[in-house]
Amino acid sequence: MKKTVLVLLPVCVAHFAFAQTAVLALRTENAVNPLGVDAVTPRFSWQLSGAKRNTMQTAYDITVFSPDKKIAWHSGKTSSSQSVYVPYAGSTLESGKRYKWIVQVWDNNGTAPSKSDTAFFQMAFLNTGDWKAKWIGPGFTEDSTRPSPLLRKTFTTNKRIASATAYITAHGMYEAQINGQRVGDAYFTPGWTSYNKRLQYQVYDVTKLLVNGTNAIGVTLANGWYRGFIGFSGQQNVYGKDIALLMQIEISYNDGSTERIITDESWKSSTGAIRSSEIYNGEFTDRRLEKQGWSLANYDDSKWDGVSLVNGDMKTLIATYNEPVRPIDTIGVAEVLKTPKGETVIDFRVNAVGWVAFKLKGKGKAGDKIIISHAEVLDKAGNFYTENLRAAKAQDVYILKGGETEILQPHFTWHGFRYIRIEGYPGDINPGDFKLIGFHSDMANTGTFTSSSNLVNRLQGNIRWGQKGNFIDVPTDCPQRDERLGWTGDAQVFSRTASFNMDVHNFFVKWLKDVAADQLENGSVPHVIPNVLGKGAAGSAGWADVANIIPWNMYLAYGDKKILEDQYPSMQAWVNYITGVSKNDLWNTGSHFGDWLFYRPDDDNDGRAAVTDKHLIAQCFYANSTQLLINAAKVLNRTEDVKTYELLLKRIKDAFINEYMTAGGRLVSGTQTALVLALNFDMLPEGLRQQAAQRLVDNIKSYGNHLTTGFLGTPYLCHVLTRFGFTDVAYKLLLQETYPSWLYPVKMGATTIWERWDGIKPNGTFQTPGMNSFNHYAYGAIGDWMYRVMAGLDTYEDGPGYKHIRIQPHIGGGFTNASATLKTFYGTLSSGWKIEGGKLMMDVTIPLNTTATLFVPASNVDQVTENNKPLGSIKEIKTGEAGSGYLSLTLGSGEYHFVVNGVPDQKPANN
Ligand code: BGC
Repeated sequence: MKKTVLVLLPVCVAHFAFAQTAVLALRTENAVNPLGVDAVTPRFSWQLSGAKRNTMQTAYDITVFSPDKKIAWHSGKTSSSQSVYVPYAGSTLESGKRYKWIVQVWDNNGTAPSKSDTAFFQMAFLNTGDWKAKWIGPGFTEDSTRPSPLLRKTFTTNKRIASATAYITAHGMYEAQINGQRVGDAYFTPGWTSYNKRLQYQVYDVTKLLVNGTNAIGVTLANGWYRGFIGFSGQQNVYGKDIALLMQIEISYNDGSTERIITDESWKSSTGAIRSSEIYNGEFTDRRLEKQGWSLANYDDSKWDGVSLVNGDMKTLIATYNEPVRPIDTIGVAEVLKTPKGETVIDFRVNAVGWVAFKLKGKGKAGDKIIISHAEVLDKAGNFYTENLRAAKAQDVYILKGGETEILQPHFTWHGFRYIRIEGYPGDINPGDFKLIGFHSDMANTGTFTSSSNLVNRLQGNIRWGQKGNFIDVPTDCPQRDERLGWTGDAQVFSRTASFNMDVHNFFVKWLKDVAADQLENGSVPHVIPNVLGKGAAGSAGWADVANIIPWNMYLAYGDKKILEDQYPSMQAWVNYITGVSKNDLWNTGSHFGDWLFYRPDDDNDGRAAVTDKHLIAQCFYANSTQLLINAAKVLNRTEDVKTYELLLKRIKDAFINEYMTAGGRLVSGTQTALVLALNFDMLPEGLRQQAAQRLVDNIKSYGNHLTTGFLGTPYLCHVLTRFGFTDVAYKLLLQETYPSWLYPVKMGATTIWERWDGIKPNGTFQTPGMNSFNHYAYGAIGDWMYRVMAGLDTYEDGPGYKHIRIQPHIGGGFTNASATLKTFYGTLSSGWKIEGGKLMMDVTIPLNTTATLFVPASNVDQVTENNKPLGSIKEIKTGEAGSGYLSLTLGSGEYHFVVNGVPDQKPANN
């Protein structure tokens, strides 16, 4: 009997604990149990979970344990609502050591504190001296085709292994195996950074791959970004001619002793099946040359060459901060086609990024050659179209060894494609044998958006696919042609939208460090990061401003002040650079891309091309970058800088008015982009803003409710319309189905965002092949407006990262519903609205430990109920008049269901 009571007691406690607030989702530097942390004061985040409304954290208590179970840091009970990025403040953390941590939180419900499960983080190498390994390369003379080298070593262990950690990087790319098994699931490692200044290594737990006895390590290298072809002028060896590996395994045995395996002169080298591998051109594999079992212990490597020692910098080595590229999507064959030209083509029905893996199941004989080519589109006649890939061959070629049963796929390349053409395939194609494997940096999916328009939902899907395929360790312009570069303009334009769809925090933190690293001595910012185009390719308005725009966008999206701290010198250097090249406060020097790919009709007799003066654009971005620097200076309490740059900002705006505006408020370029930038960046005197907004609306109407903006005007277009009371016009643009518009490509069957508004013209022909990617995310920047304005999910600057949430949905455009969800660092935030039967229903979820201001489209409190109760009767919800048809409500955490009565039904849009 007694026994039963004892058994039941913990169950009761657990049940009680379940009802109170729970603490979960523990992250260190925004990663779950990361290996290889090189931040000396890592920061901890967690989330609260529970159903009780208005729950706020009141205190936390963090304990960090060292490997010997001693306490490395105990914060003590700390009164604070901070649950994101709380910095470690204990004893010095040691290289390679694994620390465990737990957190306890108290909340305003007065219940017992909630305790988390245990999380851990493992430190990376914190000192250059931790590296004992030597850089090694192949010991043979490479021929001009540069086949992928194989490097190999065996070693014996005869004690029980407690743990083993591998640290690996390369000049080029690497894929490591231990005893025939792949090390980790990261691809295209070590990733791409400004290699001369920052080279990442990866850290893997390889305990389970090692055996007691003889072990073999086998590593394949490839040219990658380091020395392969990169950039559109056919350049290679950008970072060096060598190809090399650096690897160190730290083994701890159960008896407390340790052992280290390193790359050194004892390794062997040879080549195998991969005869050439290039990012743009694809991979050539001759399977007859495969070295069967080469990464197994019993393989005979007596005929292999030795290795050479390579000069490699140890000081540039850094641990990896962002999520690795992984295979994420597996897409089956939608259709096998015979084109009019008689070619065999497979359609995967989505323009994805990665490669095709296929089985041959006993087909084929030695020497048979299969060529897989990749294309994004078929031409008007239905033939395979590759001209827009420019110099990128994008072909994976396999010479068979006969009797194939294995899966054939490349290793160190990727393609942007929806279709493949297959040549030389032995026998009939079984669709089930082919799969498209989609790769991208493995960022968590955070956002969803959906509405009553199928076409707009497809647009959102296309934006997401564009994001997937162009977030391959760096934000790329496109994934298919001889480019795939970190174009700064494209990245800044899309960055805020990206932060809704996925958690891009660590991705951009890493890339921004490369922005700063590759910034020129004079402060100018290169067109592409990492910079492979040379020092002359820098300083374009709207591109180089990435240095200020993305740090600020990330600060808003994630509330991480450290981004601003770290990037501040880079932001300031950029503004100072512009000041240096300006004359009389006008930035009217240098070469600029301008409002790239704006609307330009073929036969332009009436001057309908929407050309915006490039220096007018530059002046707007000069003001914006200065404003963002001021914002950052305020957050960082740099009061002197605030004063200095506020004076500068006033001069920049005065110079703008003087040079580009008439006394009546007209701009020298009357284009949509000119008006949008001038309004969005507050360039015009307040009294002249509304008339400028009206001019913008008139301009849009004069084009039959079409946009004419290029890369720089597009992201702000609908935001400006909403700000000045023209959301109805923004909806007309969003729902426009004819060129130029967001839905035109959707209607033409696009599955990603196109580089140009008319990549495929209405008559089915293509835009010029020199510049016609079908997977460029820039115009997908409308996603930000869909999330923030249509569904209404936003953050206040005084509580960035959705600590203080702003929700203001905008009903219109004939939409009968729209909703968005966002996994913030505090938990899931959502806002959805629906109009039905004369009522507006609004469902809202506010995460714990945050507050929200909600704007309900209603003119008075009596019109609104929450969970069937009159709003006026609910004490914990504070209401206020917001004006312009909205009531403002102050809400704490919880799920809310509002109904606004007396709302006219919408005339549904017909898409
Ligand atoms: C890229 C762009 C980039 C542009 C600069 C192009 O080749 O694909 O998206 O921003 O050059 O104008």
